[in-house]
Amino acid sequence: MLWGGWVGRKVLIAPSILSADFGRLGEELELIEKAGADLVHIDVMDGLFVPNITIGPCVISSIRSRTSLPFDVHLMIQQPERYLKEFADAGADIITVHYEATPHVHRVLEAIKKLGLKSGVSLNPGTPVSVVEDILEVTDLVLIMTVNPGFGGQSIIKSAVDKLDKLDRILGKKNIMVEVDGGVNKRTIGLFKGKRVDIIVSGSGVFKEESYREAIDFMRRSLEEA
Ligand code: DX5
Ligand code: ZN
Repeated sequence: MLWGGWVGRKVLIAPSILSADFGRLGEELELIEKAGADLVHIDVMDGLFVPNITIGPCVISSIRSRTSLPFDVHLMIQQPERYLKEFADAGADIITVHYEATPHVHRVLEAIKKLGLKSGVSLNPGTPVSVVEDILEVTDLVLIMTVNPGFGGQSIIKSAVDKLDKLDRILGKKNIMVEVDGGVNKRTIGLFKGKRVDIIVSGSGVFKEESYREAIDFMRRSLEEA
């Protein structure tokens, strides 16, 4: 799936189901697929690494059959190495872990790749992008948090957006995708014009809008026209 020809070709939109109606999760997935989403972004929170608690592998495996879109699983959990196999078995295609959540990020990324999945590393707004320099060989994706993780519907932290230029210089021509997450919606998408971004995550910016399709199209078009 994905990658390879992907990088730099097209902006992909990944609605975050954190803002979906959890009582109708299966239906919400069908709706975003019909509306043109490219991936499903799934936020896993443990109440420790971040203050909020969301869902785990059993919910993910029970919704796996409701869409053919890839599952982009964002683990906001302490020591994610404890649960990689469970999330792989549940149907994850990409597993992203936080640089700040484990003392052994290189080993964790390697383990994700060994499971046959794409490996992502996420950086909080307060973490410098230079930390990715020594893990590039085991990284398929860098997720830049543009809010402090834990909740949907927060406002973008501008300094986190500015980090994208430095990240671009570090990644150079490497086939590593860049994803942004937090506060991205129709009103803020313009901040990413001209930046190296492959995947846009948007939770409330899709699920709190009247038309999912219109929100997704608007964000994609805004960057493709850049
Ligand atoms: C925040 C999560 C995000 C969240 C984004 O900690 O990682 O994926 O769902 O929500 P919005 O797009 O509403 O800021
Ligand atoms: Zn997320």
